[in-house]
Amino acid sequence: MNAPFNPARTAHREPFVAFVCDETTAEVLRPIAVELGWSPEKVNKGGLRNAVQTLSVSASPNILFVDLSESGDPLNDINALAEVCEPGTIVIATGQVNDVRLYRDLVASGIHDYLLKPLNPDALRDTFAQAQTALNAPKLADPANERPHCAVAVIGTRGGCGASTIATSLAWLVSEKHSRTTALLDLDVHFGTGALALDLEPGRGLTDAIENPSRIDGLFIERAMVKASERLAVLSAEAPINSPVMSDGAAFYQLQEEMRGAFECTVVDLPRGMLVNHPHLITDVQVAVLVTELTLAAARDAIRILSWFKSNAPQTQVIIVANRVQPQAMLEISRKDFEGSIERKIDFVLPWEQKIASQAAKLGKPFAEVGKGAKSLSPLADLATRITTITDSGERDDAAAGSGKAGAKGGSLLEKFKVKLPAKAKK
Ligand SMILES: Nc1ncnc2c1ncn2[C@@H]1O[C@H](COP(=O)(O)OP(=O)(O)O)[C@@H](O)[C@H]1O
Ligand SMILES: [Mg+2]
Repeated sequence: MNAPFNPARTAHREPFVAFVCDETTAEVLRPIAVELGWSPEKVNKGGLRNAVQTLSVSASPNILFVDLSESGDPLNDINALAEVCEPGTIVIATGQVNDVRLYRDLVASGIHDYLLKPLNPDALRDTFAQAQTALNAPKLADPANERPHCAVAVIGTRGGCGASTIATSLAWLVSEKHSRTTALLDLDVHFGTGALALDLEPGRGLTDAIENPSRIDGLFIERAMVKASERLAVLSAEAPINSPVMSDGAAFYQLQEEMRGAFECTVVDLPRGMLVNHPHLITDVQVAVLVTELTLAAARDAIRILSWFKSNAPQTQVIIVANRVQPQAMLEISRKDFEGSIERKIDFVLPWEQKIASQAAKLGKPFAEVGKGAKSLSPLADLATRITTITDSGERDDAAAGSGKAGAKGGSLLEKFKVKLPAKAKK
């Protein structure tokens, strides 16, 4: 079975199924099922054991009625039922044991109600009415469905600084370590590496979407996305380089919209040029990860991109990641000087890890996966946690994101950039 990515879109459920041990119980149950609009044929013979067997291979109903009469150890057997029963099913049990302790234990283990045999039709009606009320009540207690969608864009200050490496790693970490269904959308349409980095064929999904934005809907997303794992899917392209991409950006925006409905998290690998051409793509992105190397050119572009965010997307929280960072003596510009020129702190630093990077490329696996044992890459995992924390809370987290001022006050940004450059680099 091909499980849908959207957990809310669960398979169609039967409203009611019963498993009872004797004909007398079935006879009381059937007419009441009919009154409630349920099929009397859903009253099966067989009790708890049969319920466990059946539900282990089929979808759970909304309301499940089970007879515990033939069970030697009802509490233990109810636990076996819990293992095969999908969350959200309301279980009503019946039996011959009149023991308040058993009743309490059953309720504590998640049973909605326990009715003593022989069944009283009125008590049965009451119980079903309560079960239906519980089913229709808003599910406040389920945080998994309450979480806002997590939308992240990863942008490199300059080509080659590792934005795609980090985007793929983040998507993998969020799907594996934070167990969220995740879409990786690679908007470098001609030269994207999203699929390549995961050893997948990109498929035609993204190019089709650009050519025909009106076709983009939930079904399109389900078909076009290439699955990397149960929880991670990719949309990437290797569009022919003899033709320009003809898009006003509507297709990209529409794709993000549909992904929001189908996945718990979207990671967009966003070439910086897209900010210029399609600024609206950032509108609903809560967190932007700006990946940079510690070079002078990257400092200049970090300043310009940060200032773009300030005026165009003040609602988006920007996290700065310095990547491919070499030992101090090899750096074109030190971390301190870089922070001084961009007037804020770098949030995470990832060192130069040639071996892990080439291994990841060779294996077609995410950098974070290949380097998961390496202490030097632990900031990547911290980055994923920081992002999910921000998007779950629905609030900006500026203090924690280390965006405190690190530079001088007053004057134009570029002016300060010149002032802050180390003397050696100014030559
Ligand atoms: N921390 C790192 N250490 C060493 N090499 C890295 C690191 N991060 C990325 N790389 C390598 O840098 C190159 C460029 O990375 P890529 O993610 O394609 O950059 P971008 O998308 O910003 O152009 C790739 O070969 C990648 O394997
Ligand atoms: Mg890239």
